[in-house]
Amino acid sequence: MEAVVKPRTVVQFELNGRARQGYAESRTQLCDFLRHETGATGVHVGCEHGVCGACTVLVDGKAVRSCLMLAVQVQGSRVETVESLADEDLMSDLQQAFRRHHALQCGFCTAGILMSCVDYLEREPEPTETQVRDMLSGHLCRCTGYTGIVRAVLDVAHERKTQQENNNNV
Ligand code: FES
Ligand code: FES
Repeated sequence: MEAVVKPRTVVQFELNGRARQGYAESRTQLCDFLRHETGATGVHVGCEHGVCGACTVLVDGKAVRSCLMLAVQVQGSRVETVESLADEDLMSDLQQAFRRHHALQCGFCTAGILMSCVDYLEREPEPTETQVRDMLSGHLCRCTGYTGIVRAVLDVAHERKTQQENNNNV
């Protein structure tokens, strides 16, 4: 019996600021494509049906669950994964805050949460604790109990606001 050859599409897109391309079958999930075709292993795959949030990445600046998106849907788009956050050796302010507040243990959930936070803080620079908890309700963390994560996000929002005020006063 002849093996069935599945048609593959060349997906051209921007990944973490660089032009990339890779091959995907029509039903390849974005998370698998990013991990296996581009080596973006910071994209974690948990439930594979949109519940845990571990696979969250940014597509054209918006947080999406990459297990619920097809690779072919990012044709021509801008995709950012957790690998985009660190500038060489320098961690982003969010990553530093997560470390300060012990907001991770095993770290499986962390990449997805960080990407949701990037998107969220762009839209809501001065969130309340309730709002942060609401945002985090789309993510499952089995380790931390969420308290450190909430503190880290509020801390970054506060730091950014202070920085902005200082800049305005210069
Ligand atoms: S792996 Fe995508 S939401 Fe859980
Ligand atoms: S730190 Fe382990 S699941 Fe969140």
